[in-house]
Amino acid sequence: MSEIETLKKWIDESNNIVFFGGAGVSTESGIPDFRSVDGLYSQKYKYPPETIVSHTFLTKRTDEFFEFYKEKMVAPALKAKPNKAHYKLAEWEKEGKLKAVITQNIDGLHQAAGSKEVLELHGTIMKNYCDRCGKKYDVDHVLASEGVPKCECGGTIRPDVVLYEEGLDMNVMEKAVRYIEKADILIIGGTSLVVYPAAGLVQYYRGNKLVLVNLSETSQDQYADLVIHEKIGEVFSKL
Ligand code: APR
Repeated sequence: MSEIETLKKWIDESNNIVFFGGAGVSTESGIPDFRSVDGLYSQKYKYPPETIVSHTFLTKRTDEFFEFYKEKMVAPALKAKPNKAHYKLAEWEKEGKLKAVITQNIDGLHQAAGSKEVLELHGTIMKNYCDRCGKKYDVDHVLASEGVPKCECGGTIRPDVVLYEEGLDMNVMEKAVRYIEKADILIIGGTSLVVYPAAGLVQYYRGNKLVLVNLSETSQDQYADLVIHEKIGEVFSKL
């Protein structure tokens, strides 16, 4: 039986699937990932992008932060539409087969495809708040603002995104652990699994159906029960 046929059989027989994903889930929607050869981190900038999307840059080089963040992270996400991978996950959730999508992505495409239980480990570009008074702003307000988005109180409006040097929301992490340790099938897709603590979550899986759908090899391939090195949107469209 081919890998796809095995995956289809496992999916058909399960009602406790959990998905853990990253930027590779959105590349077929036109959003570059980070570490592929055509990814964001391979493009030449004055500073490495990991340096730009950091707490230090947000606070010390705010203009440069927002120039990069709006052009390279917000604009592509708002232009993008969900792809077959997003829609299939939402379909499995509706059928009661998938319990949660745990994502490192901040593009909101899982919710746009109809997924309800989406744990956004790195936050989302859709939510923004004033760093002084906490007032909430939507992403259109941020994108429409000239330069640094300012609150009426004078504070800076920042994205509810986990930047480098910032911590993840422990409540979200604990919820993700609970889903993963109870999962019958854990499907990991579109992530290089190199950024912690997010990548460390997959260690909590205790089942015997660890599935990896990723174009490139990852550190978890050797432990996976099923590995498919193909485009996730295409693979899911065959299920
Ligand atoms: N189908 C399957 N896999 C894909 C596809 C696709 N269509 N496109 C890309 N990939 C794979 C790549 O081979 C790569 O292994 O997805 C992975 C994407 O890895 P990264 O670019 O490192 O993205 P991600 O793992 O989400 O990065 C984690 O790094 O910069 C931080 O906060 C940022 O959340 C991000 C984190």
